[in-house]
Amino acid sequence: MSSFNIGLLPGDGIGPEVVAEGVKVLDAVGSRFGHEFAYTSDTVGGAAIDAFGFALRDETLEMCKAQDAIFFGAVGGPKWDDPNAKVRPEQAILGLRKGLGLFANIRPVKMYDFLADSTSLKPEVVRGVDLIVLRELTGGIYFGKPQKQWVENGERHVVDTLAYSEHEIERIVRVGFALAQGRRKKLTSVDKANVMESSRLWRAIVLEIAPDYPDVELEHLLVDACTMHLISRPGDFDVIVAENLFGDVLSDEASMLAGSMGMLPSASLGARDEGGTGLGMYEPIHGSAPDIAGQGIANPIAQVLSGAMLLRLSLGLEAEALAVEAAVDAVLAAGHRPPDLAGPNDTPKDTTAMGDLIVEALAG
Ligand code: IPM
Ligand code: MG
Repeated sequence: MSSFNIGLLPGDGIGPEVVAEGVKVLDAVGSRFGHEFAYTSDTVGGAAIDAFGFALRDETLEMCKAQDAIFFGAVGGPKWDDPNAKVRPEQAILGLRKGLGLFANIRPVKMYDFLADSTSLKPEVVRGVDLIVLRELTGGIYFGKPQKQWVENGERHVVDTLAYSEHEIERIVRVGFALAQGRRKKLTSVDKANVMESSRLWRAIVLEIAPDYPDVELEHLLVDACTMHLISRPGDFDVIVAENLFGDVLSDEASMLAGSMGMLPSASLGARDEGGTGLGMYEPIHGSAPDIAGQGIANPIAQVLSGAMLLRLSLGLEAEALAVEAAVDAVLAAGHRPPDLAGPNDTPKDTTAMGDLIVEALAG
């Protein structure tokens, strides 16, 4: 029997509700495959601001470093959403990314056939979409200094800084090539090399390391063109690699191809030999959804599938990850729908009912 330590950061809004289902599913994997998961939970985001005055405490970061993986819910809500406040829930997520060296953000977008009619695009355009947005997560304009506002001659000025070093670009691009090698062997590198110096270095580095991956077809797209191609020919994409801010924007756009944000998991990784902690953090991409929090109606599938990524990428438990994904597929194939996916003829299943169904399917 192997045992693993998992840090739980449920956060705000629907975070705690969906993390509870994710844990239920992990425990079911434990009983079926003979593993033990030991959880250490802590408060982050708005809840931590209320309790401690900070979104992320040093103790929390230290606790995380001692785990095998981090299972994260979501942070934020209307109570804390003043963008000018000194403490904001988002500082938890940014602090965890930086503090744990999670430079590679993997956001898979896979369209479930039954959702082809639920997107705002034509079903024939989105059917079969299966891509990954790989986003650089600890550099670029999110973390560059200076980042400030000041007043000069009675006028307000502002600066954000987009800075990258060679090794930061190289390590994320290599993750992109490696991911593509394990899939359909196509990498789209996104930049704005016609305007930005940072993008010119980005593209140069991509071209320099491409010969190490001769089996991968490489394509460069300017970010503005990429936003167009993503909705006109989404099926052509396999792995898209982009710097932090471009990846943020593109991954939200790409999520719309899947028909529902309630289905999309993500992983944030930082290889030890690249200056990271070797840890991975796993979270749904949908956020805290304050409008439906506390009602028990959130779709837990993105959290459950994030658990599958945790099993695969941090714990090396591929069969277990596949079993979770198959259980989700089976529950959906049997016609069960969480409220956000229910059609007029479906009886929607609430958060815990969906979790229970997935657990049942796992047990076989
Ligand atoms: C995301 C979110 C975050 C980001 C916010 C909450 C800081 O939009 O994970 O994509 O901008 O990275
Ligand atoms: Mg975002």
